[in-house]
Amino acid sequence: MRRIDRETVQKILDTADIVDVVSDFVSLKRRGANYIGLCPFHNERTPSFSVSKSKGICKCFSCGKGGSPVNFLMELEQMSYHDALRYLAKKYHIEIKEHEMTDAEREAVTERESMLAVSEFALQHFEHNLNNTDDGRDIGLSYFHERGINDAAIKKFRLGYSLEKRDDLASTAKAKGYNEKYLVDSGLCIQNEQGKIYDRFKGRVMYPILSVSGKVLGFGGRTLRKDKEVAKYVNSPESVIYRKSYELYGLYQAKQAIVKKDKCILVEGYMDVISMSQSGIENVVASSGTSLTEGQIRLIHRFTENVTVIYDSDPAGIKASLRGIDMLLAEGMNIKVVLLPEGDDPDSFAQNHSTSEIEDYLAAHEQDFIAFKTAILLKDAENDPHQRSNAIKDIVRSISVIPDEIVRSEYIKECSRRLRADEQMLTRSVAQKIAERIEKEAQQRQRQVAVQSLGDLGQTTTDFQSTQQEESEPIVVEQQSSAIEDSYDNRYSAFFKPFEREVLRYVLKYGMVEMCESCDESGNTAPLTVMDYVWSELNEDDIHFTNRNYSIAYNAAFEAISSYKDDLQREIAKLTEKRSQLMTNGIAEIQRTATNLTDINAKEQALTQQCDEAYFKDLNHFKTMYVVRELISSPDDVVRRVTTELISEKYVLSKVHTKYAKIETEQDKLNELVPRAIYEWKDAILENQMRDIRQKIKEAGNNAEELTALMSRQMELKQLKSEFAKFLGERIVAPRK
Ligand code: GTP
Ligand code: MN
Repeated sequence: MRRIDRETVQKILDTADIVDVVSDFVSLKRRGANYIGLCPFHNERTPSFSVSKSKGICKCFSCGKGGSPVNFLMELEQMSYHDALRYLAKKYHIEIKEHEMTDAEREAVTERESMLAVSEFALQHFEHNLNNTDDGRDIGLSYFHERGINDAAIKKFRLGYSLEKRDDLASTAKAKGYNEKYLVDSGLCIQNEQGKIYDRFKGRVMYPILSVSGKVLGFGGRTLRKDKEVAKYVNSPESVIYRKSYELYGLYQAKQAIVKKDKCILVEGYMDVISMSQSGIENVVASSGTSLTEGQIRLIHRFTENVTVIYDSDPAGIKASLRGIDMLLAEGMNIKVVLLPEGDDPDSFAQNHSTSEIEDYLAAHEQDFIAFKTAILLKDAENDPHQRSNAIKDIVRSISVIPDEIVRSEYIKECSRRLRADEQMLTRSVAQKIAERIEKEAQQRQRQVAVQSLGDLGQTTTDFQSTQQEESEPIVVEQQSSAIEDSYDNRYSAFFKPFEREVLRYVLKYGMVEMCESCDESGNTAPLTVMDYVWSELNEDDIHFTNRNYSIAYNAAFEAISSYKDDLQREIAKLTEKRSQLMTNGIAEIQRTATNLTDINAKEQALTQQCDEAYFKDLNHFKTMYVVRELISSPDDVVRRVTTELISEKYVLSKVHTKYAKIETEQDKLNELVPRAIYEWKDAILENQMRDIRQKIKEAGNNAEELTALMSRQMELKQLKSEFAKFLGERIVAPRK
């Protein structure tokens, strides 16, 4: 039952106090308006973790992590969005109301929960077999001990044993009331033609595969027989709960270490993970035999950007895996590679070395992935021009998937040196590869849209599928997918980024604040909010955010205010009530204490003023926080991240402050600052168009007609630009750096 209704979510977000929530994990000291403490996300000696009670956010000024209470919990405890809400609900004793589910939803949820339940039962049964039965101890446990796995690791990874009996699990589970259907659907049991069910994993040691939050999704079972007749490993099949390409073995046990070390080590097998972890290298996961998938990569990306892949020195295996690693690059991750000494795999290496020896070895042998790939490909191709050019193409492809332009150009330099290839040529090839991919993606998108519009006809099934997806955990990961930083959707995005960022910052930070009066044709004025203003300015000139994440956040801001009017009415009613309460109390107090009529009048006047001030301050706070409050705890990772980043930015307003003048805040000057931000952005767009025109003029050659058209357009733009300059010049009070 994973649905929490909107009202409850609101209540939780309203109640959760950031200082309170953070204090459960960090000891905080008051400093000015804020609180400060040691950052829980990285090791530090001097505190740089700051908590702002009024903004409702926390942030580390050293590592940048933090956010709303929800975000803080998600990052620190590696919880899902829903689990964070649940945690807060529990903390503040808020009852969670589940929304009424349709029959289809209920069925899907029940199926999932039943499968999880039977898997957990099986796991406990296998653990019990291993530790408390004669066969389990003699065969399973002694096998693990022989392989150097200690009891703590056995417990940590919840290892088990499936007895050598055809229906041990099947009959025990059925006796306990578990439904055969779920035993079969989860793959724990197999049904024969007569309809009888028997155990899939009989006579194997069991490695449970856990979800990020520790739920049992499936198993790997290893045979203890030496003969080659049977598969060494048998794994649970795909099911409603187990989607192989979205899970990583060991992640549940490794996640905290991954975050702490800000690095994830990737190995191949179950035993590699367990032995490394037991040896004190805990940030290790395995993709369990299959090559890495995009879903798994995003899963890692939730925790860190840094991945180290450990290879045993088997050249065939390495070559086969190179492609998978390109996907890590495409996600913008930093990839390092370590080769183990010949004859070792991570398991044997970990068993034969101490923690510090392993750490030292990893540190000393870490190579950059692209350099590593270049070396490997070139080794075979040294004297063969054809192979050499293939190698270069392959490396160009790797570089071209890297999202960050600066990183790309660094690699191009580096590779041109190593490959003894011309840098310009590499740059061009990379650019071409990127262009090809953009083209291909655009085509794919078009196809998708076409398919989708067909699919819309079958509305009900689509609806059901999407609900079902929301219930299952991997989707949380999918949401993250939109969070790829800097995945620019057009080639000017990087240029426009600072301008878009500034406008968006005003929208997020001051959305519903009234910044000036607007005046309609008949002369009526009405207050204009920052959002109204920005919206109308952008709309008028048909301007859009070109940075995808910004555009997502901007749209989310508009969604967030859909019920603003009602909420505002409610808030006003609440504040009015509060005000009249204050007045009543105040007047009673005056009547008790006042000595004469003049005194009463003076005191009443002061009281009214005081109450009015409090009222407007509260109302203003409500308006200021309205958009932020919603977005900073949004279920969408991108929205949450962008909002946190933009509103926690330290913005220092260039201000004139003398002893006498009231210090002006950014909010006081919105009527100047917001228009300026808009005009600067528009100015940048003009600038960009002029650059385009200049280029076209160059290319037009002697085509007189085209030239004239271009030149007159150029004149127009120049004219516009000088008007902008005038506007900006007049409005700029204090020049910005
Ligand atoms: P040990 O052989 O006990 O050291 O286990 P390991 O985890 O080191 O396995 P190995 O290095 O042989 O293989 C790496 C991974 O590939 C394993 O952890 C399994 O996930 C997978 N794998 C290996 N053999 C098989 C197999 O026969 N069938 C399947 N489905 N997967 C296998
Ligand atoms: Mn092995």
